[in-house]
Amino acid sequence: MAEALRVGIAGLGTVGASVARVLRDKAAELTRQCGRDVVVTAVSARDPKRDRGVDLTAAKWFDDPVKMAQTADIDVFVELIGGADGTALDCVTAALEAGHHVVTANKALLARHGVALAAAAEAKGVLLNYEAAVAGGIPVIKTMREAMAGNKVSRVFGILNGTCNYILTRMEAEGLGFDACLKDAQRLGYAEADPTFDIEGHDTAHKLAILTSLAFGTRIAAEEIYMEGIGNISQADIRAAGELGYRIKLLGVAQRTESGIEQRVHPTMVPTASVIAQVHGVTNAVAIETDILGELLLSGPGAGGKATASAVIGDIADIAKSRPGFQHGPVFGRPAGELEPYRKAQMRAHAGGYFIRLTVHDRVGVFAGLARRMAENEISLESIVQHSAGAGAEDRKTVVLVTHETTEAAVRRALAGMTEDRQLTDKPQVIRIERAG
Ligand SMILES: NC(=O)c1ccc[n+]([C@@H]2O[C@H](COP(=O)([O-])OP(=O)(O)OC[C@H]3O[C@@H](n4cnc5c(N)ncnc54)[C@H](OP(=O)(O)O)[C@@H]3O)[C@@H](O)[C@H]2O)c1
Repeated sequence: MAEALRVGIAGLGTVGASVARVLRDKAAELTRQCGRDVVVTAVSARDPKRDRGVDLTAAKWFDDPVKMAQTADIDVFVELIGGADGTALDCVTAALEAGHHVVTANKALLARHGVALAAAAEAKGVLLNYEAAVAGGIPVIKTMREAMAGNKVSRVFGILNGTCNYILTRMEAEGLGFDACLKDAQRLGYAEADPTFDIEGHDTAHKLAILTSLAFGTRIAAEEIYMEGIGNISQADIRAAGELGYRIKLLGVAQRTESGIEQRVHPTMVPTASVIAQVHGVTNAVAIETDILGELLLSGPGAGGKATASAVIGDIADIAKSRPGFQHGPVFGRPAGELEPYRKAQMRAHAGGYFIRLTVHDRVGVFAGLARRMAENEISLESIVQHSAGAGAEDRKTVVLVTHETTEAAVRRALAGMTEDRQLTDKPQVIRIERAG
């Protein structure tokens, strides 16, 4: 049998400790599958005394993960510390320089430094595997990088943040407000104490940036992503969406258009009957549309120690099965030096349907005024529904408009016109509608 694969794990938190436990529990099965033993020979975290729920005394402890990355006593460096820069970047860079394969679950790191790290890995002829960085346990990276060779992707989109999907699911199912659902998510460990990163869409954006590169062969451009979070989604939106046959999801969408590639993260209305609308709670899903395959939807657990460990261990097993001298495939599907510059499609050019909820003065001529502004901007309406604005707001009306396909620029111009006409009493709510099968 080939020599054992020696694994160093940096970071023994939710994911790292889980990886160590699964490697122990599944050792015999992994040996059979990989044709060699997979052994944890080195570990690093901040606190050497903390109980990790797994006996790691046989592994060498490193206070400094960069030193661990440089040791000749490992074959694979597994980075499970987190963070876009700092220690995670230093130790992954050091591991690649030392000629070690690297496995990471760190989307923030890849979204910022992915192309440079891929170039370093390819120059050294080692693997940089990152299945767990996008949608946790769902094998979307392998699917896109390996199983879809030759396919030309037109759009990739998904529910990539379990916290947001949990909150939106509870808001719809139980009629609760955003704050109450967020508090529950925190109590259950689905949301961080500081949830900003999830709620405002940054986490989704990091994952989307990686998917965009894989889908379109472009350099990662996370900073170019248009982003809106779910913080201003109200019960009024959720109810109106339901009445119109839609459900609200926070989606990350990357799409090829004539003017470039759109990358956007925002609350989105998807038809209630679509498959992605059935993805509830903390579950993630990724939909991929290509010329050969048509539409594919992968769905499953997007986070949590065990599910994420499953993806990390799949990556480690691929390394264990690879043979010395074998040329590894490129990290982002094509060599880092051949990734094309990202050509951004302007958000104003985005074409699609729009849900627009307006609160207007209840007076003669307002409706005609709204219709005029829409017509002027060549926006045709699929539906228009009018409600009373509720108790205490008898002098106002809520108007919900659903447009046929139009452009972002036209919608913004029409709303600016309505504001200029002093017809609106509140800031309009605009939610884009996404085509989904
Ligand atoms: N949690 C998930 O469900 C999930 C899902 C997908 C991807 N990920 C990604 O996986 C990575 C790890 O996430 P996690 O949830 O496991 O994080 P975590 O529970 O906070 O664990 C982080 C670990 O890193 C260690 N650490 C922090 N700074 C260090 C330093 N300077 N030197 C050495 N060790 C250091 C910590 O040590 P101590 O324990 O001693 O403090 C801890 O063991 C992140 O990139 C995250 O985005 C997580």
